[in-house]
Amino acid sequence: MSLQAVGVLGTGKYVPERVLTNHDLENMVDTNDEWIVTRTGIRERRIASPEQASSDLAYEASKIALNKAGIAPEEIDLIIVATITPDMSFPSTACILQDKLGAKKAAAFDLSAACSGFIYSLANATNFIATGTYKYALVVGAECLSKITDYTDRNTCILFGDGAGAVVLGPVAEGRGFKSFELGADGTGGDLLKIAGGGSRCPASPQSLEGKQHFIYMAGAEVFKFAVRIMGSAAEDALRKAGIAKSEVDLLVPHQANIRIIQSALQRLDLSEDKCMINLDKYGNVSAASIPIALAEADEEGRVKEGDCIVLVGFGGGLTWGASVLIW
Ligand code: ACO
Repeated sequence: MSLQAVGVLGTGKYVPERVLTNHDLENMVDTNDEWIVTRTGIRERRIASPEQASSDLAYEASKIALNKAGIAPEEIDLIIVATITPDMSFPSTACILQDKLGAKKAAAFDLSAACSGFIYSLANATNFIATGTYKYALVVGAECLSKITDYTDRNTCILFGDGAGAVVLGPVAEGRGFKSFELGADGTGGDLLKIAGGGSRCPASPQSLEGKQHFIYMAGAEVFKFAVRIMGSAAEDALRKAGIAKSEVDLLVPHQANIRIIQSALQRLDLSEDKCMINLDKYGNVSAASIPIALAEADEEGRVKEGDCIVLVGFGGGLTWGASVLIW
C-alpha cells in the first residue's frame, strides 16, 4: 500500500491577555528577575482568566488554523488535543472543542504525554491520514498550567504559562510533509514530574488538598539532565530515520522549557541560534502547547518557507520524548 504524504495546511496560536512578569513573581515568592532569566531564559508568561479553560484557548487557536488552511470545521475527520490540563476528567477536551467548532463528523480524543503530547498527537494523526482512514485532522496542544501551579513554590511557579497552538493536517504533494517520527518513553522516571492527586490512586480529598497533591511536582535538576540528553538524541534519531543531514535543517522548533536545554540541543545538532525558534522569554513553558505555539509564530513571522526542513523536538513528564522531521 502506498502512503499518502501528510503535511501542515494551516497553523494558529492563542495566548491569554494577562501577562505575569518575573517582577510580578518577585512579589509572590523569594526569587528575582536576574535568577529566572539566567537559569531559564524566561521573562514573562501568559495567564488564563478564571473563566478560561483549555478548550477555550484551543478553540481560538483552532479557528485561526482552520481559516489559514481554508478548511471548514465540518470537513475535519479527527481532532486530537494534547493536554495535561483538560477542562475536566471527561468528556475529553477534544470532544468539548469538537462541539465548540461544530466539527460534527470528527472523531475526537485527548492524548496524554505531557510536553511531548503534541508530537505524539502529530504522529497519530499523520498515520490516520497517510493510510487513507481520514483526510483532514486538527491537532491541538492546549494548556492552562496556571491552574495546576503552586504559586508559593519558587521551583516551579516561575516556569509555567498558558496558551494553545493548533495545526490542520492533510494530504500534501509527494516529497513534502512529515518524513519521520521518533517517539519514546521511560516510565521509570514517572515520579520526577507529576500531579499525584485527582486520579484513581489518590482521589481528591481534604488530605490531598492539604498535601498540595493537585499541583505540579517536579524534580527540576533530574528532569534537566534527562532533557539535555534526550533533546539532541531524539532529534538526531528523527533526522537519521528521515535520511536527512543535520546541515540540511532550516529551523529547529523545540519544546520551550529552558534556554539552557535548547542551547545544548543546538550544540549537539551543530545549529546556530538563528536556526532555532525561541519564544520562551514571552510565554514560559506551556507544556503540550509550546511546540505548536512556536510553530505558529514561526509561520506568522515568515520564518518557514516552502521546502524548508523543520525539526520538532520535545520532552516531558512520563518521562516521554518525541521528535519529527517535516518538509514545509
Ligand atoms: N529563584 C531563586 N532561586 C531559586 C529558584 C527561584 N525561582 N528556584 C530554585 N532556586 C534555588 C534553589 O533552591 C537552589 O538553591 P539551594 O542551592 O540553596 O538549594 C538553587 O536555586 C539552584 O537550584 P537548581 O535546581 O540547581 O537550579 P537549576 O539551575 O537546575 O535550575 C530549573 C532550576 C530552572 C528548574 C532547572 O532545573 C530546569 O529547568 N529543569 C527542567 C524543568 C523542565 O524543563 N521541566 C519540563 C517539563 S514540564 C512538563 O512536562 C509539564
